[in-house]
Amino acid sequence: MTNNAVVELGKKNYMNNYSQFPIAIASGKGMYLKDEDGNEYLDFVAGIAVNALGYGDEDEKKALLSVIEEGVLHTSNLYYNRHAVNAAAALNKLAGSEEVFFCNSGAEANEAALKLARKYGSGKGRTEIISFHHSFHGRTYGAITVTGQDKYHKGFAPMLPGVSYAEYNNLDSVKALVNSQTAAIIVEPLQGEGGIIPAEQPFMEGLRKLCDENDMLLIFDEVQCGMGRTGKPFCFQHYGIKPDVLTLAKALGGGLPMGACVAFSRAAGVFTPGDHAATFGGNVAAAALAELLLSKLQALSANAAESGMYLTQKLKEIAAKHPDKASDVRGMGLMQGLDLKVPPRDVIAECMKRGLLVCSAGYTVLRFVPPLIASKDDIDKAAAIVDEALSAL
Ligand SMILES: Cc1ncc(COP(=O)(O)O)c(C=O)c1O
Repeated sequence: MTNNAVVELGKKNYMNNYSQFPIAIASGKGMYLKDEDGNEYLDFVAGIAVNALGYGDEDEKKALLSVIEEGVLHTSNLYYNRHAVNAAAALNKLAGSEEVFFCNSGAEANEAALKLARKYGSGKGRTEIISFHHSFHGRTYGAITVTGQDKYHKGFAPMLPGVSYAEYNNLDSVKALVNSQTAAIIVEPLQGEGGIIPAEQPFMEGLRKLCDENDMLLIFDEVQCGMGRTGKPFCFQHYGIKPDVLTLAKALGGGLPMGACVAFSRAAGVFTPGDHAATFGGNVAAAALAELLLSKLQALSANAAESGMYLTQKLKEIAAKHPDKASDVRGMGLMQGLDLKVPPRDVIAECMKRGLLVCSAGYTVLRFVPPLIASKDDIDKAAAIVDEALSAL
């Protein structure tokens, strides 16, 4: 099929809930994707912070093929399977956590975390959740309620009760919302969709202390910023503190749908049989890829740290060269944002014409979340295209 044929068929048959770019991805190798017409793109989107190993990775292929040869893609959670238990054990070891619940997406991981927090608080009269403005936690009702952006609520009222929103990086605004009914605080250590905004050290330490003092759970949503992206296996590890609950998805399943709600000591043992479930959670094929990804997580994190520093430097050079079109550069590792003074969608279109895929975050930010295998050479090529794209506008 041609790009146009795929795009037209999609427009005719899909619900109109995405504003998709008019290309159809057909294949990939390493850091590059090809569309149906054979055009090649250097990929700095990675399926929105998912494809950590890039495309056509040989180990990924082997892991998937061996599952296919075993003949069982799915077992349900009536039974154990070795890929999922290996992935859970690796996750607990890397994160320093105790228990894992596998599901299929970031929103589902957050739903599990919110239910866990409510269960933890039940009997103590603690049912309320504090979240943050500019946050993003997914599209189910629980997840959009804790998402502190009106645009995601519009048309879908009423939201769930018992959720309030504080200012990110402002501990006093959190303290003002804490009361005897607060069960948990949910926060992204590096806000993604809200515009690539890192949490400050005193803010993170303050949240930890506040939760300890008030018997509340601290939930870190690392759906986007976890799994090596920021230069350490998990973003919270930059701050020298641990959450009570950690949520993950995106890169975890190596491109197959997988999420995880991970409990640390205080939150362990809260769920008992029947409390929560997902038919596909810990699906064998996704778990086999998670097992592989977790075995490579230290190396991927190390590359994200090194390449991330280089990406920051190149983006700062671009911002300095185009002060009328770009301002701030923010982020950690290979999760970086370039704050723009021109519409991100125009820059994305100019980059796409020149063979680079990038995406946006918030209203003004150009987001860079490449595969975690990105090299300095890939970053040089991407930076040259962004520079040209800004010059062309
Ligand atoms: C921080 C964060 N949490 C949750 C989600 C929702 O994940 P999913 O789309 O897999 O439900 C996202 C998605 O972008 C995210 O960035």
